[in-house]
Amino acid sequence: MPSPIRALPDELISQIAAGEVVERPASVVRELLDNALDASATQIVIRLLSGGIRLIHVEDDGCGIPRDQLALALQRHATSKIGNLHDLEAVGTLGFRGEALAAMASVSELTLASRTAADEHAWSLQARTGELRPFARAVGTSVEVRELFFSTPARRKFLKSEATEYAHCMDVVRRHALSHPEVGFAVWHDGQCTAQWRAHSGPEAFKARASDVLGSEFIEGSLSVQVQQAGLSLQGLIGVPDQARSRADQQFMYVNGRFVRDKVIQHAVRAAYEDVLHGQRQPVFVLHLGLDPLGVDVNVHPTKIEVRFRDGRLVHHFVQSTLKAALAAPRSATPDAPQASLGLSSPEPRPALQASGFASGMPARQSTLGLRADPQWQAFRPEPLTFNDVQAAPKWAATTPHTGAQVQPVVTGNAMGASVNATERSTEPAHDDMPLGHAVAQLHGVYILAENAQGLVVVDMHAAHERILYEQLKQQLDAQPLETQPLLVPLSFAATPEEIATAETHAETLSQLGLDLSPLSASRMAIRSVPARLAQADGVALARSVLAELAEHEASTVLERHRNELLATLACHSAVRANRQLSLMEMNALLRQMEATERSDQCNHGRPTWRAVSLKELDQLFLRGR
Ligand SMILES: Nc1ncnc2c1ncn2[C@@H]1O[C@H](COP(=O)(O)OP(=O)(O)OP(=O)(O)O)[C@@H](O)[C@H]1O
Ligand SMILES: [Mg+2]
Repeated sequence: MPSPIRALPDELISQIAAGEVVERPASVVRELLDNALDASATQIVIRLLSGGIRLIHVEDDGCGIPRDQLALALQRHATSKIGNLHDLEAVGTLGFRGEALAAMASVSELTLASRTAADEHAWSLQARTGELRPFARAVGTSVEVRELFFSTPARRKFLKSEATEYAHCMDVVRRHALSHPEVGFAVWHDGQCTAQWRAHSGPEAFKARASDVLGSEFIEGSLSVQVQQAGLSLQGLIGVPDQARSRADQQFMYVNGRFVRDKVIQHAVRAAYEDVLHGQRQPVFVLHLGLDPLGVDVNVHPTKIEVRFRDGRLVHHFVQSTLKAALAAPRSATPDAPQASLGLSSPEPRPALQASGFASGMPARQSTLGLRADPQWQAFRPEPLTFNDVQAAPKWAATTPHTGAQVQPVVTGNAMGASVNATERSTEPAHDDMPLGHAVAQLHGVYILAENAQGLVVVDMHAAHERILYEQLKQQLDAQPLETQPLLVPLSFAATPEEIATAETHAETLSQLGLDLSPLSASRMAIRSVPARLAQADGVALARSVLAELAEHEASTVLERHRNELLATLACHSAVRANRQLSLMEMNALLRQMEATERSDQCNHGRPTWRAVSLKELDQLFLRGR
């Protein structure tokens, strides 16, 4: 016999609802900070005891709550922030559900104290007893949450150690602090001040706060982004690939001022970094996306951490293309861009580097000396590329360096469409228009040592050449489809209905990737051709992974990724190998090409291609004062 249906008591309803909103002390901190910021606070003080488990106290100097509305503030579904559906659709405040205080009150000992500018003194309301008392405090609000989950012990057991809970609370504070540099924040934990960030103003406020929260190294190793387009805006700081971390713990994304974790944006960021990031490394960034509130639904999840975009494709494209463009410029040729320093000391402000002459396309100057094959040089010449008849390998033209004659190795077909020639004059003082400087030596057949105006540059020659080739291949193949190899005996494999549907929907994309898939029955598919370069690869695994990606992501992204993977493999096999002796001319030619090639700071696998050691760093190594 089933139990009879009955209405649940109010308190239990609140506790069930609280489960969605309040998971741990950090959730309480998040809700209280949301409220303080919505009340236009300029100073917020957070006090925690035992990682917030025993006490969370948040005090602000915002607008306050009038005495007669204190009780209402604690009621479920009571809010001052929206009044109708229209308000909900265009919500501009962080809160709007009117349930946070009620949820917290149902699982803790909560006291709300507040004073508006019109009040003579503050009033304090104890949630459990309803006791209202005069209270002493300036205009603003303080909320005290004691003994979280004291009434729901099962929940309390899920809490982690105090240190872990404290760390989660700090994460929340950092998120809010980063998006509100104009607000001062102070955090106290077990009686000790653990963070104090004063309010900033002016155009540099955002950077100043990012420096407070993430450290000055973050600012030095990041690029500024500020783009407005088609009703969307994106601004913030993105770390250069070198700054990437093994954990995704420094990724701060805000949509209209709200911290979010959104799949569309995460994928767009990942795609933008894909070509320059090593393995599973995670980029660091603080980015603010702005758009018409009507274009985004924030009422998707009780904690408001997820959002839904009306036009997700537009947002994806905007974020990806903006970040990709910011990351493409080689830092060696970008004035004021963070340099690939060895980090022996904090880098000095650098003199502006002149990038002219590289990207603008200097005319190629052919060597006037007769070209004679030099055996040593022959040895260095990259293996010829045969892919799709593209002659992508640089045609290094040089005479024998042993004669001491002035020769110019000419590198043609670089990624920017510019031919760069390098004059060998290693004795000439390095100057700023050659940011990677003059080659002075080759080290162990692996590295090029160069001298530039700031000090020493070390280049991984294989890694650098690999990137240059890769970028050339990408450019040259932009207009052409990949070469395919028909299979004499088609491969057949068991396919799910979803895979078959995806193959049908994206037949054109698949053929652009060099894959020809057709259904054999309701549960099997045949692979009739594969990309020529991957004829030896496991065709079934390739088809499955491409189908899985197409089902999840936009066709254009998948297309680009797989094409790029092929090209990267190709470039890696064609780039100069270690232990090839290079002449100074060849080394200089490589340096000049790096300066003119997009993304040349990283090899195709995301590893750095060069590092700089400034004179100051060298001086420090030798304890030499200047
Ligand atoms: N620090 C504060 N300063 C001024 N008013 C506040 C403060 N905190 C809460 N309030 C008032 O109390 C009301 C209820 O707060 P509560 O956090 O429960 O709901 P909300 O912020 O409106 O929505 P949400 O549940 O999405 O957070 C708010 O609408 C606001 O009017
Ligand atoms: Mg709220």
